[in-house]
Amino acid sequence: MSQTKLNIGVLGCGPIAQAGHFESCTKAKNARLYAICDVATDLRERMAATHAPEKAFDDYAAMLADPNLDAVIIATADAFHVQASIMALQAGKHVLCEKPLAMGLEESEALAGVVAASGKLFQVGHMKRYDLGLQEAKTFIDTEMGEIVALKAWYCDSTHRYAMTDAVQPLIVKSAQARKPAQDPKSDLARYYMLAHGSHLIDTARYFAGDIVAVQARLSKDKGMYCWFVDVEFASGTLGHLDLTGAVRMDWHEGFQIYGQNGSVIGETFNPWYYKTSEVDIFRERDGASYRPLGADGHFYRRQVEGFADAILNGTPQTGAGIEDGIASVRAMLAIARSVAEGRKVRLDEVSGAL
Ligand SMILES: NC(=O)c1ccc[n+]([C@@H]2O[C@H](COP(=O)([O-])OP(=O)(O)OC[C@H]3O[C@@H](n4cnc5c(N)ncnc54)[C@H](O)[C@@H]3O)[C@@H](O)[C@H]2O)c1
Repeated sequence: MSQTKLNIGVLGCGPIAQAGHFESCTKAKNARLYAICDVATDLRERMAATHAPEKAFDDYAAMLADPNLDAVIIATADAFHVQASIMALQAGKHVLCEKPLAMGLEESEALAGVVAASGKLFQVGHMKRYDLGLQEAKTFIDTEMGEIVALKAWYCDSTHRYAMTDAVQPLIVKSAQARKPAQDPKSDLARYYMLAHGSHLIDTARYFAGDIVAVQARLSKDKGMYCWFVDVEFASGTLGHLDLTGAVRMDWHEGFQIYGQNGSVIGETFNPWYYKTSEVDIFRERDGASYRPLGADGHFYRRQVEGFADAILNGTPQTGAGIEDGIASVRAMLAIARSVAEGRKVRLDEVSGAL
């Protein structure tokens, strides 16, 4: 493409679009908030007044028919991700789809077929891959660390995070006209925690240590907490352990420890709405010292848009999670659920169905 800015349309004017994507598209050096779309008229008009896209649509198909639109960000409820992605790809648009890719395996694989046939870029919104701390850790792992012997990662959503998030996010505008899936995503909390947070945890683990081949998981549901402890087998032979917990009675608690042949990495990740780069200590055995990158630019949602746009405009390698990463996360979530239900180790290649 010869243009310098990607014309992006955001589908959905809900919380993630308001707190992340509208500003990211507006601030990105190589993208433009060209269009927004929502069926909720009050929300759409208010967001159009605030963020000033060139166009505002109440109909997704009409937005996709706009020849000046290059790409869409799909910021709708999980249940709508696959259908909205397929529509965009078939209209010839590149897609950045919020995580999780999908709620089921068969629909994910059907989408993969459409991605392949489209020739368009498809990315899953695992924005943690644009956290500079995680990126520095990844570079160290890939270039200096040698073999990763073991990885532990945890993602513990806190009872206090709604108060903390409300204190720092922009005002989130709600609408009674918003289109919602038939089933309230929070009506089944185990499923909600897995889709909303487990998908991030699994992607972070895979970003560092590669493909997961099998899991053995236990789930404790006690005192209003949902706590999964998951033994993970990576294809590389790395020993893995994941802790996904909902409603811990403490601050947001997310991070990782990675033990390698020539060094170690310890990371602490913050509530994303602080826009603060993870604090990552990288220890190099050869000089017996650690360094911790500052990562002054902690706006991983904007950096995600820039990475996505760069790959489309300049043909640079895709830096975000692709369709295969999205499918791998869906498989891992299904395998964890089945392992809990059946009390045994489950290989990712034996799962099917939906969460
Ligand atoms: N990456 C992250 O850190 C992060 C954080 C929060 C949420 N998310 C993800 O973002 C997604 C959206 O979350 P949310 O809370 O903003 O959702 P939401 O359901 O509250 O809002 C979505 C909006 O999209 C609109 N919409 C849905 N289908 C439409 C259609 N076909 N045409 C026009 N408008 C349509 C709805 O009217 C609604 O206003 C979820 O998948 C969630 O997992 C990601």
